[in-house]
Amino acid sequence: MDDVIIARALHVLGVVIWIGGVMMVTTTVLPAVRRGDLGHDRLMAFHAIEHRFVWQARTAVIVVGLTGFYMSARMDLWERFQSLQFWWMHAMVCVWLLFLLILFVIEPFILHRYFHKWATTAPEVAFAWLQRAHWVVLVLSLVTIFGAVTGSQGWSAF
Ligand code: HEM
Repeated sequence: MDDVIIARALHVLGVVIWIGGVMMVTTTVLPAVRRGDLGHDRLMAFHAIEHRFVWQARTAVIVVGLTGFYMSARMDLWERFQSLQFWWMHAMVCVWLLFLLILFVIEPFILHRYFHKWATTAPEVAFAWLQRAHWVVLVLSLVTIFGAVTGSQGWSAF
């Protein structure tokens, strides 16, 4: 089962890099950008950081998805998706799908077109909304990580 151990290690490594980055952006970068600490052009400051991190996040999302499905197939865990006790398995797939949508569809096709316009005309409102959206996906991710680590050890809240 060495392959499953390696897949799990890569899975967790991907989660650390990706969700750790989301935590950093949400709690550190966005508040600094909103206050103008990184310069008056908030859009440029945010973009300078975001366009570098987005590729790390995209790579991590792909690694986490591949290793997650690999482990599910190797250990034949598909039945878990029929039980509420394994809510954290559903949560992992939901968070993954949500980020897949955000990073590969919303960020390049919608955010670039509409957010840039919005952030230029009403930066206060646009960045407040952006930070709120980051908090929502961050909390969902942290709850999922808590559920996955405790759940994979056999502990369940249900
Ligand atoms: C396609 C999506 C995903 C699939 C199919 C998947 C699948 C799995 C599987 C099969 C395990 C091993 C469970 C066990 O040993 O009982 C696991 C563990 C784990 N996953 Fe996922 N996962 C996915 C996405 C995610 C995401 C998005 C996160 C974080 C937000 C995440 C965080 C974790 C964590 C923290 C563990 C526990 C590792 C440990 O304690 O050993 N996974 N995942």
